[in-house]
Amino acid sequence: MKIRPMLPTDIVAVIAIDTAAGILLPWTPNQYARELLKRETTFCWVAEVDERLAGSLTFWNVAGEGEIANLAVHPDFWRQGIGRALMKTALAKAVELGFPCVLLEVRACNQPAQQLYRSFSFAEDGRRVRYYSNGEAAVLMSLKIGKEENYV
Ligand SMILES: CC(C)(COP(=O)(O)OP(=O)(O)OC[C@H]1O[C@@H](n2cnc3c(N)ncnc32)[C@H](O)[C@@H]1OP(=O)(O)O)[C@@H](O)C(=O)NCCC(=O)NCCS
Repeated sequence: MKIRPMLPTDIVAVIAIDTAAGILLPWTPNQYARELLKRETTFCWVAEVDERLAGSLTFWNVAGEGEIANLAVHPDFWRQGIGRALMKTALAKAVELGFPCVLLEVRACNQPAQQLYRSFSFAEDGRRVRYYSNGEAAVLMSLKIGKEENYV
């Protein structure tokens, strides 16, 4: 498995993975294309297995703090360490950029993702009730980043 920066030519496959993974409102091609242009504040990676795209992660610099904006792995590749590898890549970038913390939000019912985040020591900070369009709550999670952390 290889992790590399996302390219404009990956966008169609990335959205297909988001959809297959069950992301309810996947970004459009234009949204991804715009994100790829924000080189100072957005970092997008894809995971490739035998030259097939298996997952992607989009990471934001929000005023000097990290935010996991998007993460999805194709169901064909679940539970093979790809989500963890993408998260490690983002957290290593957070260390490189000296971010004090990384934040994210996740659906309250999404136990697999919450479990993944907890395995990196993300902790729940609170909830936004009825945050998603289907009325579901968002769980807000954060991870404090030490300068000496080594996620690679
Ligand atoms: C969440 C998601 C990205 C995990 O990707 P993945 O490649 O399967 O994850 P990994 O194989 O790297 O798993 C890492 C850890 O996450 C946790 N985990 C992953 N899937 C899990 C599941 N179905 N149930 C419980 N824990 C799970 C485990 O702690 C796992 O470690 P382990 O396999 O050693 O027990 C993937 O399930 C997915 O794309 N889900 C749909 C989209 C989504 O929820 N995105 C996140 C939105 S916030």
